[in-house]
Amino acid sequence: MSDQIVAVFGGRSEIGLEVATRLAPSNTVVLLARPGGTAASEEVCRAAGAARVVTVEFDADDVESHDTLVERVEAEAGPIDVAVLAFGILGDQERAEHDHRAAVAILHTDFVAQASLLTVLAERMRPRGRGTIVAFSSVAGARVRRANYVYGSAKAGLDGFASGLADALHGSGVTLIIARPGFVIGRMTEGMDPAPFSSTPAQVAEAVVAAIAKGGPVDLWIPWQLRAMFSVAPHVPRAVWRRMPR
Ligand SMILES: NC(=O)c1ccc[n+]([C@@H]2O[C@H](COP(=O)([O-])OP(=O)(O)OC[C@H]3O[C@@H](n4cnc5c(N)ncnc54)[C@H](OP(=O)(O)O)[C@@H]3O)[C@@H](O)[C@H]2O)c1
Repeated sequence: MSDQIVAVFGGRSEIGLEVATRLAPSNTVVLLARPGGTAASEEVCRAAGAARVVTVEFDADDVESHDTLVERVEAEAGPIDVAVLAFGILGDQERAEHDHRAAVAILHTDFVAQASLLTVLAERMRPRGRGTIVAFSSVAGARVRRANYVYGSAKAGLDGFASGLADALHGSGVTLIIARPGFVIGRMTEGMDPAPFSSTPAQVAEAVVAAIAKGGPVDLWIPWQLRAMFSVAPHVPRAVWRRMPR
């Protein structure tokens, strides 16, 4: 893969950067991030062999700007071949249980903004008949747990939206990969005890990059064993499920 345009929405994301460095060689990497500096991310992509690194300011929550943002990116860097939606927040579950604004903020970033950007990207790629989009769902959305139901429900919404969109794109030449990592040991989960079948950002990126190269699968569980685990989750009695840790 060379001379491709790879756009990472969430240009400081640990997982996003691991994906970016693997896709960087001979390609243009566009890092979209909130103000706060992307120098370190840019350096990592250049060191990985990127032909060009472009940085663009991006606030995912500003959904009104998504269409003009992508238009600007493509005007500057060229048509996006691979879009990685790596932004997201875990949020404060405890606070969000009692503060409706905190709950809505998590849902807005992790569901509404994702759905908005997925729609904008699909609309641009579909007429071209090519392109790959990666959405980051999570096992947290596969069956929502009491312990993290705000983040989990946003991921469940995103997962449903992306599943429908992936099917709508079937046959169009555009592929939407729905990555469902389990617990990822990294910045987002700092201070928490790793859950069974945890992975690292590098392992998640390896799986995602392999799926991009193969053109799928659409449903990408990371690690793959989680697919089997979560196929039984709907059958676990609520009295037991209620006590599941985050
Ligand atoms: N880590 C896990 O355990 C895990 C498991 C399953 C799925 N996922 C999902 O995988 C994706 C990547 O996660 P990660 O582990 O790489 O997390 P991360 O390192 O915390 O990165 C998340 C990125 O999202 C950006 N972001 C948050 N809100 C934004 C906004 N409104 N506008 C623009 N950027 C925004 C953050 O930007 P700033 O740098 O400005 O804060 C941060 O760089 C997320 O969707 C996450 O939910 C993660």
